[in-house]
Amino acid sequence: MSAVSCAKSKQQHSANYDLVVSQLLAQMTISEKIGQMSQVNGAEGSIPDDFAAAIRDGKIGSVINEVDVTTVNELQRIATKESRLGIPLLIGRDVIHGFKTIFPIPLGQAASWSPDVIEQGARIAALEASTVGINWTFAPMIDISRDPRWGRIAESLGEDPYLCSTLGTAMVKGFQGNKLNELGSIASCAKHFAGYGASESGRDYHTVNIPENELRNVYLPPFKAAAEAGVATFMAAFSDLNGVPASGNKWLMNDILRDEWDYNGLLVSDWDSIKQLSTHGFTEDDKQAALMAIDAGIDMEMASPTYRDHSESLIAEGKIDIAHIDQMVARILTLKYQLGLFENPYTCAEQLPNIVNEQHLNSAKDAAIKSCVLLQNHNNTLPLSTANINSLAVIGPLADDGYEQLGTWVFDGEEQHSQTCLQAIKKHVGDDVLVNYAKALDNTRTDNIEQINDAVALAAKSDVAVLFVGEEAILSGEAHCRSNIDLPGKQQYLIDELAKTGTPIIAVIMAGRPLTLAKVIEKVDSILYAWHPGSMGGPAIADLLFGNAVPSGKLPVTFPRTVGQIPLYYAQKHGGRPVSDDSYVHMNDIPMRAPQTSLGMSASHLDTHFTPQFPFGFGLSYSKFSYTDLELSAAEINFNQTLTITCQLTNIGDVASDEIAQLYIRDLVGSVTRPVKELKRFKRVHLLAGESKQVSFELCAQDLTFYDRDMKLNAEPGKFQLWVGGDSNASLCADFHLLANN
Ligand code: NOJ
Repeated sequence: MSAVSCAKSKQQHSANYDLVVSQLLAQMTISEKIGQMSQVNGAEGSIPDDFAAAIRDGKIGSVINEVDVTTVNELQRIATKESRLGIPLLIGRDVIHGFKTIFPIPLGQAASWSPDVIEQGARIAALEASTVGINWTFAPMIDISRDPRWGRIAESLGEDPYLCSTLGTAMVKGFQGNKLNELGSIASCAKHFAGYGASESGRDYHTVNIPENELRNVYLPPFKAAAEAGVATFMAAFSDLNGVPASGNKWLMNDILRDEWDYNGLLVSDWDSIKQLSTHGFTEDDKQAALMAIDAGIDMEMASPTYRDHSESLIAEGKIDIAHIDQMVARILTLKYQLGLFENPYTCAEQLPNIVNEQHLNSAKDAAIKSCVLLQNHNNTLPLSTANINSLAVIGPLADDGYEQLGTWVFDGEEQHSQTCLQAIKKHVGDDVLVNYAKALDNTRTDNIEQINDAVALAAKSDVAVLFVGEEAILSGEAHCRSNIDLPGKQQYLIDELAKTGTPIIAVIMAGRPLTLAKVIEKVDSILYAWHPGSMGGPAIADLLFGNAVPSGKLPVTFPRTVGQIPLYYAQKHGGRPVSDDSYVHMNDIPMRAPQTSLGMSASHLDTHFTPQFPFGFGLSYSKFSYTDLELSAAEINFNQTLTITCQLTNIGDVASDEIAQLYIRDLVGSVTRPVKELKRFKRVHLLAGESKQVSFELCAQDLTFYDRDMKLNAEPGKFQLWVGGDSNASLCADFHLLANN
């Protein structure tokens, strides 16, 4: 391969590329245009002759999954020096929660409720990915996810449109930096447009039906926010939406994304999703699939070759207008200009920070600390103190597994950079505490219980047992959905046996989704939900266990008691017969032969309580907080006024801690029924023990808008309720009115 020379850094340059793009377009043949619209898979560090020839002939616009920097530079050299027009390549890769330094899975990062944590994680991922020449990542995934059976909930930012919008835009900012052409910035991608998270029964790729009003009020807001934040690209979902697969959905891609939102970035298909239009039964063959996708405005085809194979004849037959193709190619070329690739397509890793450097690892640790959610802490079992214990049993299949703690969608992360919990705990306690380790189960799924007795014996002779259970990374993520979300395998049996010892048990749960924990909470003292915490999961969790750090994460998604409650989310509708403590009836309370009307006649299941196991926004600390003195700047606001909401937040415990203060509203009467609560603001506040701070939030009419029956975005005058507190069950409440516009 030929040597390349790297310029010192990418140059700043003008943001308007219309002229250069149109000049370049004017020189392009149809074949070169179609080439730009094609993304192909890399050849794992090699460049076969036909691959090089295709680039030379201008038949490839983007390469996905090539991470060898020498190869990437050579691909860029061939594209820019040996093709007729010298157009550089977009180099795409799924950099989802870190490149080499792995951060917690996105759902875990979302539990930090910290845009700063998310932005920093994405920044570091971009810097590291840039070292191998990646200039485009396929993140953030901002599909609203309300079904924990769906494996891809792990990649999501949770169930709530506002939280997801806020964190999703932070991630875009982190990847893209201030400018795309700055060293270490990469293009990001809002995916999967749209509704993919609502696949029926949480089965990946499955059909999606979402009424337009719900689509606009719940599923589209994070995408709109990303578009407004300048996300460089969008990706079409695999799924169909109300009968029309996303990759051929002109209404979604053109009418909403382009026309309504005025989005002019690059729109890419998902892997083979254009070809799959025929698998859906939406098109007859590849040629019709290409036609539908082009017509919908999908600029670039990922993986499958329908554009390459059929676009020219579709143009020749007059089925596609070349002006439409020009618009699509223009968007691709514009991104290449924005990234500065025409000036310097090459990568010099030496100009970027080292991968997995100390600062990156510290940030990953900070993110893991802030992502862990303390779900239960009976008798203040946590934090542990080395002064109070002599021996500690560390038990479980995930205690010492540097690979599994990384989580799903880790193409480039390496186990060698992981620090495990067992390692970190041993380091933390040194010689002060005897650490007894037993894996107990070979993995989370095994039915082999041979090692359990030894583990139980170890727990019995230890002062405390810390149990690391959950799911391996591969049990969540794309195409890894579950119908039963209890702890898999014999882990519950392990817990039940350990509980018999009487030794206090702390369960640290690593998983890619909310698990149903009803049987766990009865048997253990404390539960720390760590998601898949990434490279620095070990030290982060050790700090939390021993009180060097205080848990502050809050759930970005509701935890159901049982899988039958799904979908279960806090922002549900009130309904005409809502359930309450007064109306709820459990089947065991119903007398035999009771008449039909003796039931509560409300929206609930007979065999499980109507509340979730843990509500959205919930998370304990080693401290406690009180919310008092809620005040509103006015009892009424008009459409031009701002409402200021203040309350006093006090740390009434005895350790300094962060608390995430949350503001919810309810629009009591709407032309379309409104959710019982909607998150509108949140703030992470640090408070010393005993410290009190005033927390204030601002709302205006814009924050009260929703899509009405005519799909118009409006705020409707009337009465609103508002709550401030530490989770979605917040009870400190006030009312205000939005006055009609005169
Ligand atoms: C399929 C996934 O749905 C998408 O999220 C990902 O970016 C592409 N494959 C590329 O790997």
